[in-house]
Amino acid sequence: MCGIVGYIGKKNTKKILLDGLKELEYRGYDSAGIAVLQQGEFSSYKATGKLINLQEKTKDFITDKFAVGIGHTRWATHGKPTELNAHPHVGESSYVVHNGIIENYAELKKELLTNGVTFLSQTDTEVIVHQFEKNLKTVSSPFEAFKETISQLQGAYAILLVTKSEPETIFFAKNGSPLLVGIDTDNDKYFASSDTPLIGYCSDVNYFEDGEYGYVTPDTLRIYSKEHQLQEPHFTKLPTNKLSAQKDGYRFFMEKEIYEQHDVITDTLLGRLSESSVHFDELETDFFEGIEEIKLCACGTSYHAALTASYLFERNSKIKTSVEVASELRYREPILSKDTLFVVISQSGETADTLETLKMAKNAGLKTLVICNVDNSSMVRLADASLLTRAGVEKGVASTKAFATQVTIFWMLSLYVAKEREALSQAEIIEQVALLREVPSSVKVSDALHERIKRLSKRYLHGHGFFFIGRDIFFPLALEGALKLKEISYLHAEGYPSGEMKHGPIALADPELFTIALLPQHLLYEKAKSNVEELSARDATICAISPLVFDKADDFIQTQSHKHYMLEFFEMMVILQLLSLEISIRLGNDVDMPRNLAKSVTVE
Ligand code: F6R
Repeated sequence: MCGIVGYIGKKNTKKILLDGLKELEYRGYDSAGIAVLQQGEFSSYKATGKLINLQEKTKDFITDKFAVGIGHTRWATHGKPTELNAHPHVGESSYVVHNGIIENYAELKKELLTNGVTFLSQTDTEVIVHQFEKNLKTVSSPFEAFKETISQLQGAYAILLVTKSEPETIFFAKNGSPLLVGIDTDNDKYFASSDTPLIGYCSDVNYFEDGEYGYVTPDTLRIYSKEHQLQEPHFTKLPTNKLSAQKDGYRFFMEKEIYEQHDVITDTLLGRLSESSVHFDELETDFFEGIEEIKLCACGTSYHAALTASYLFERNSKIKTSVEVASELRYREPILSKDTLFVVISQSGETADTLETLKMAKNAGLKTLVICNVDNSSMVRLADASLLTRAGVEKGVASTKAFATQVTIFWMLSLYVAKEREALSQAEIIEQVALLREVPSSVKVSDALHERIKRLSKRYLHGHGFFFIGRDIFFPLALEGALKLKEISYLHAEGYPSGEMKHGPIALADPELFTIALLPQHLLYEKAKSNVEELSARDATICAISPLVFDKADDFIQTQSHKHYMLEFFEMMVILQLLSLEISIRLGNDVDMPRNLAKSVTVE
């Protein structure tokens, strides 16, 4: 997804912008660009593809004086990923970068075209800079022109704009897309669309709220609310540790993040478990009072965590639970009743569809909770309460450790609710709390396991598709296994409930159809096994994952013998992640930045 950086000051502007964009690479992009205003003159560079192309283009460009600069990584929405469509977009004497979507761009563009403005790109963003320059002709100052422009835009945006008519200023606006400003010890100001580019440069940052706009100069930072009131900035400390954002010797961030699961789940549990119960300091003691139903809503992998949670809530907490895909819920005019707790799940806390459903639920007067990995994200700031997953920065586009921590939080939360509602006996809660402590060891990757999967992966590089099958809570895990494989290997994969195969999909069974079968010992083993036998009888190629030896499989990955199906769930989750990783590596794909995908999907 698109990323924004900006800087005003005397340091090496080019380096600051390019380093910042590098930090945003993990979000996925297809072109990048910068514009720098130095000694009254603009220099702008753009390139498609990876940042190395932009670095190459700017290698002789020197920024050794006071300058204002803006930069952008673009993930195409309106218009193809070409150089002309890359940001920053130029007017007569101004440049703009923008994240989000301007919904009324077509109307604005039509009018600008009648006024004789020439457009260079197919983007929605370009209207911003032309509209600004149009306004500049009729109002008293560039700031008034910017303010007027913002009021004419509909949609979601984070915007930085620089102009020759006020050469020591960066104008900014935020509505629905993340944006923050940081300050260093020399009072130089930095902008970014997430905090990673600012780590190491700034110690304190201010996250803008929706509707805020304003400007920075070398000496001032002016923030206005959407009601046009001057605001005091609210600076918070930025983390200083960049180590966790590096690969630590692993081949890919995804691999590092799979191995990190042991540590991050330990962090997720930290301070939240006692001998006999689960504690969440973040939740008021009466948070679940009056709640009769839970509605979970998310996208992608987070949706799979939500599906997993629905089994836990109904089984452990005995509370009615439903699960929704955010992009569907938004437009289907759902009936939302006030005794329902609305829970959104998001690694980033910025996913546009999920964020909108949270707004919907709030508007309908529902109590809301977010399970999120990013503090200060839009969803965390909006929901009534939040539980942070503590997975740390997840750089691989394919989500792994975020999913693991989401499921951990949900298992804990199901016990928390079970206690409140007296849905499980004290002995049962004590037993599951003890099991929760074993989750970190269940996701530890042994050399032997990784080696086995590496060897096995070479047999699964072709064929006409994969079925991932499981029953009960292993069905959402099957869906997640299939999603992991397809997004990084580009092989077709589907997740199915094992019992559904005979209702249609089994027609595809032949030796070139690969079935990854989840056969846990402690949940419906016999039933799942017969489903796999039906496939085996039709000559499908089967890779079974189970603690119990299964001789009808072509390949077999033996898991440890655990006491509970949830521990089997976590171990199988790691196996599916490693299998996708190794298949993708063998196919020579860019594991961390798969084609067509973005880390944080901030457009609907
Ligand atoms: C898949 C993946 C995506 C995200 C989805 C939601 O590996 O990462 O499916 O899960 O885009 O993102 P968040 O969780 O940030 O809301």
